[in-house]
Amino acid sequence: MLPPLKVVLTAAGCPGASTLIRMLKANGEREIHVHGVDTRPDAVGRFLCDGFDLVPAGGSPEFIPALAGVVDAVRPDLLFVQSSHEIETVARHREVFERLGARVLADGVPGIEVASDKARMHAVCGEIPVPQPRLLLPATLDEFVAGAEELGYPGVPVCFKPPVAKGSRGFRILSAEVDRVHELLHERPVNRYMALDEFVGLLRGVEPFPRLMLMEYVDSPEITVDLFADKGEVVFHQVRTREEFLTGLAMSFKSIDRPDLVELSRHVVRHLGLDYFQSIQWIGGKLLEINPRVSTFVYQEDFIIPYLGIRYALGELDAAGVALAQSRLRFSRRSVRYYDQVFWDE
Ligand SMILES: Nc1ncnc2c1ncn2[C@@H]1O[C@H](COP(=O)(O)OP(=O)(O)O)[C@@H](O)[C@H]1O
Ligand SMILES: [Mg+2]
Repeated sequence: MLPPLKVVLTAAGCPGASTLIRMLKANGEREIHVHGVDTRPDAVGRFLCDGFDLVPAGGSPEFIPALAGVVDAVRPDLLFVQSSHEIETVARHREVFERLGARVLADGVPGIEVASDKARMHAVCGEIPVPQPRLLLPATLDEFVAGAEELGYPGVPVCFKPPVAKGSRGFRILSAEVDRVHELLHERPVNRYMALDEFVGLLRGVEPFPRLMLMEYVDSPEITVDLFADKGEVVFHQVRTREEFLTGLAMSFKSIDRPDLVELSRHVVRHLGLDYFQSIQWIGGKLLEINPRVSTFVYQEDFIIPYLGIRYALGELDAAGVALAQSRLRFSRRSVRYYDQVFWDE
């Protein structure tokens, strides 16, 4: 067995947390003590971790001092950040935690900043370049309408979304063929479609006109490259599909062999100097989004990217060790996400 490790894990209640905690512990090589933190007292990680503390939200000025207090008390080997809402501030304050003896699995603030604004991300990645959906940034409602036509509406659907958002919030597909009555009677009440006339009716007179990305609607499967990087160089990677969307979250995944997307992701990671865990989303071979944090992995018992990243960060893996680990990746791997429950008395 390798020496045991202690990890402080943020956002212990996020959607991927329960599996990540389980897989860190199932590494088969060493004991890992996981101390979770979250903003909510009922975060699921509280029931799955070895210890738990409440912290304020990542955007609060109290977040870093509170997290430093936990790290000071727990004295972990590593600080593992899960949420996009915390990654940038933790990367900015690395030295606070390193002074307390914790290796921080977050760095590369400029790249994280670029990734957090999709309009900026597309502009910066246009310098590489990599394939991207056509994108316009209309400043007024008139420019929006003209832009939709420029992208082919009403002949083809187009889409829009805010540059800064999470979980599909604000994303809509503009289609001339929406049938509101059919939708009302036969669809789930979550609807991604609207006609341009409806958009114009809603937005007329709204001042200032919201910052929106008007985009080519790419009607193709979404593919994600999950990876661990070392200062702009991809170390470990795995490519997966995203399927069975429920309320904006994919519920099913397949590990697949897409060396072309791994290669494009290498260019993105290098250009933005991304570090540690990243999740780069592609649609129809075009760049969709960069999430500068861990995501939902298609874990294998011998290919656990979060654990491999920890080993790499600790300096336990040389080039041969990295290559051996990566060679274990299986494209036969499948995964479904499901809901579970925890119980407690108050
Ligand atoms: N240009 C596009 N073409 C087709 N679908 C898109 C496009 N942009 C976004 N989407 C859809 O909207 C979802 C959310 O967009 P994304 O950029 O991933 O933002 P976030 O996940 O941060 O809300 C995507 O997973 C995809 O289903
Ligand atoms: Mg997304």
